[in-house]
Amino acid sequence: MKIDILTLFPNMFNGFLSESIIKRAINDKLVEINIIDFRKYSPFKHNQVDDTPYGGGAGMVLMCEPVVRAIEDLKTDDSLVILTCPQGKVYKQSVAKDLKKYKHLIIVCGHYEGYDERIRNFVDLELSIGDYILTGGEIPAMAITDSVVRLIDGVIKKDSYEDDSFTDNLLDYPTYTKPVDFRGLKVPDILLSGNHQKIDEYRRLEQIKKTKEKRPDLMENNNED
Ligand SMILES: C[S@@+](CC[C@H](N)C(=O)[O-])C[C@H]1O[C@@H](n2cnc3c(N)ncnc32)[C@H](O)[C@@H]1O
Repeated sequence: MKIDILTLFPNMFNGFLSESIIKRAINDKLVEINIIDFRKYSPFKHNQVDDTPYGGGAGMVLMCEPVVRAIEDLKTDDSLVILTCPQGKVYKQSVAKDLKKYKHLIIVCGHYEGYDERIRNFVDLELSIGDYILTGGEIPAMAITDSVVRLIDGVIKKDSYEDDSFTDNLLDYPTYTKPVDFRGLKVPDILLSGNHQKIDEYRRLEQIKKTKEKRPDLMENNNED
């Protein structure tokens, strides 16, 4: 898979790309991630990318020309163009699973007051990472990229994500490690029993219990939309 991220702040991605699982996935050539400064697609003086809003109001608005030129340069028949946007479809694990099927993602990071509305005509999908406002689309782009890359075959072991929260509309089961007794808080005996069938049953029941307690909405609705 190839992921092209269009941003005005490429340095924000330095740590993200150079640590842990994402770094390993890049080194193992399981994913190619390119950070592209879309300022370089500006046809204007001083590589201008934004301007004041028509009709007045606060902030600067990203202009169509640099963003659309960048999209048109990078896009192929295999691409899905994603606009990070608080007004978009709310991002979920089920969307991450869908995105994993694409060969090429182009993720556009907005900044400042947002985009010229006409940019929406040149993208395939608008994604929000939640009902709050960030200064830019860089953190959403990292969240989307991270959640998709960990699902690519070979990046992490399949059984590491198969029981993750949100699979089958359930939260993950509780996990423990050494010591068996921490300040009187004990690891459940069943996990020390070595009986894997009983452990699987216990974990499934715990998943249901936890979900009912913390996120009953997951069980009530079909969240795999
Ligand atoms: C300050 S925000 C603009 C918000 C815009 N004025 C609005 O109220 O819809 C600047 C950029 O950050 C990104 N952004 C902010 N919050 C986001 C969210 N919850 N999900 C996805 N992108 C977000 C988008 O790329 C957005 O264009």
